[in-house]
Amino acid sequence: MESGETSEIRHKDGTDEQVWSLLEATPGACVNVALHHLYDPDEIDLVISGPNYGRNASSSSTLSSGTVGAALDGALLGKKSIALSFSFIDREVAFLPESISNASETACNILQSLWENWPSLSTHSHHGIPDLYNVNVPLRREPNPPIHFTTFHPGSYGPVYQSVEETESSGGGRRFVFKPKLPTHQDVKQGTDTWAVMNQMASITPMLAKYHCVEYGLENEFARVFPDLHAAKTTPTSRQLGNSARIEGQKHILIGATGSVASIKVPILVEKLKRIFDDKVQIRVVATQYAQHFFKKEDAGCEVFTDENEWESWKKVSDPVLHIELRNWADIMVVAPLDANTLGKLANGACDNLLTSVLRAWDPERPVVLCPAMNTFMWNHPFTAKHLQHLEGVLRYRIVPPISKTLACGDVGIGAMAEPRDIATYVQHVLLTDNN
Ligand SMILES: Cc1cc2nc3c(=O)[nH]c(=O)nc-3n(C[C@H](O)[C@H](O)[C@H](O)COP(=O)(O)O)c2cc1C
Repeated sequence: MESGETSEIRHKDGTDEQVWSLLEATPGACVNVALHHLYDPDEIDLVISGPNYGRNASSSSTLSSGTVGAALDGALLGKKSIALSFSFIDREVAFLPESISNASETACNILQSLWENWPSLSTHSHHGIPDLYNVNVPLRREPNPPIHFTTFHPGSYGPVYQSVEETESSGGGRRFVFKPKLPTHQDVKQGTDTWAVMNQMASITPMLAKYHCVEYGLENEFARVFPDLHAAKTTPTSRQLGNSARIEGQKHILIGATGSVASIKVPILVEKLKRIFDDKVQIRVVATQYAQHFFKKEDAGCEVFTDENEWESWKKVSDPVLHIELRNWADIMVVAPLDANTLGKLANGACDNLLTSVLRAWDPERPVVLCPAMNTFMWNHPFTAKHLQHLEGVLRYRIVPPISKTLACGDVGIGAMAEPRDIATYVQHVLLTDNN
């Protein structure tokens, strides 16, 4: 405003020439009132919440941040939104005019770049496309701080307020001031927002505007706590498997992903399956520990289960066992990609993780599709054919063979996982034509 810049945007009622409005409310309420009552939402391209004076880093701080809350509000209203904070380490430096000027310049550059390069896809598709960004810019003497794309530091919620001495003016009651216990350098992982802030760098954390709810593992516990409610809410499924997660009229596909580089294609396979089944499909992924190196859970486009989930959801005898729940839920299991290690384990009956436990407990009436992916030498190793023949012959597993191309490791030859499109077509064929 000081520069005298104004905007073309007018108040909704058209009677007020004044462009800027001062609202006295929480940041989220301001965004909501502005978008619903003051301006025509179609005229607002971007919601910027901030700058907030102070860091907004770590999952716990972000969860309770009014600044991020306002950007969330904007995102939920379908607007591109950015939460902006000016972080500082040294309070004295933070208030120097050059620190404020440097931070403002960096913030403007970041906001402009984000705006110009915002993914063009819908902000509500929730397939890993950010709905909003949480930006921290350091208040520091030097201009041009390094800028990092960051993840959340998984902060826990310690004491955020500290008790201060009683004063006469406090009327004898106790007083608390905001003074969170900040993590030390040893506590924070490189690449997180807290790490960037602690090192006086700018952080940009892409976020989705949603909470995650617990979607599995509580059925039996709810049945115990609310027997009537549970009985009323649980509709029997076509298979009477007792798994309330199954949805009538939909196919339920369980994808197993292993530590092959082809696991980077898991999100594509999920998308192809959704498309080919015209969204009449429920998909879940079981990922081995090594598979998780190749894709992010939040990018998969569906729920992803890992070995940790198996043990998190089981505490006592009446609790559900995840690998059995998943087995009950699925119409088909597609291991894509299947690496040499898991192939060897399956052929020998090993079950030392969630994926292999699901298959060891598998209902033989239901199909299993294996999509191997490995280096050509691994593929040509005599064990590979032996293991596959065993699984095909004894367990009737179906194989989608790998294809020949330049592999990720640079070798040229057979071993690359079949194309996700072809796997999806095969799965459709199996589910729709095999009486399953
Ligand atoms: C970058 C990278 C890529 C890999 N790609 C493959 C692969 O395509 N196929 C394979 O059989 N093993 C591959 N491996 C080896 C497996 O990750 C390794 O055998 C691991 O133990 C598999 O564990 P899992 O079967 O429990 O996922 C790769 C390893 C690395 C580090």
